[in-house]
Amino acid sequence: MNNPFHPGRPLHGKFVTGDQGLGHCIVRQTDVEAAHKFYSLLGLRGDVEYRIPLPNGMTGELTFMHCNGRDHSIGFGAMPAEKRLNHVMLEYTDIEDLGYTHQQFIKNEIDIALQLGIHANDKALTFYGATPSGWLIEPGWRGAKAIDEAEYYVGDIFGHGIETTGYGMDVKLS
Ligand SMILES: [Fe+2]
Repeated sequence: MNNPFHPGRPLHGKFVTGDQGLGHCIVRQTDVEAAHKFYSLLGLRGDVEYRIPLPNGMTGELTFMHCNGRDHSIGFGAMPAEKRLNHVMLEYTDIEDLGYTHQQFIKNEIDIALQLGIHANDKALTFYGATPSGWLIEPGWRGAKAIDEAEYYVGDIFGHGIETTGYGMDVKLS
């Protein structure tokens, strides 16, 4: 099959896929250690990358693992969230497409859980918008490549401020 891709609306560029896969997703795990063991068995690499101070004085830990050139393909933690699937990230090649998507969310009054911001680990400019199923989609641009060194962060480079609560992302990232 080599049929051309017809996007649902005109795009300035494309989606970043190919040897970086579809994007990434973040899921809630009850047993983080078992999840790390499982994905390691599949050949993924990575570890805890975020240690976020929580309002209750505890520290929220998030693990990120990669299986190709993308910074991470799956992330997980024992976060108190209703949905198992927290979000799916898709990456645009062109910042114009990210901006247009953001504008469409605002025009159509679709919930934005986290405002625009840049993550410390994958360096992508992204925001988090609600899907009709209640999980989030994270449209992004300019994701960084995976590195092999261990990295720890307590927050993001800027932004990702909480705009709408209740989507399992009610954490202060900057
Ligand atoms: Fe993400």
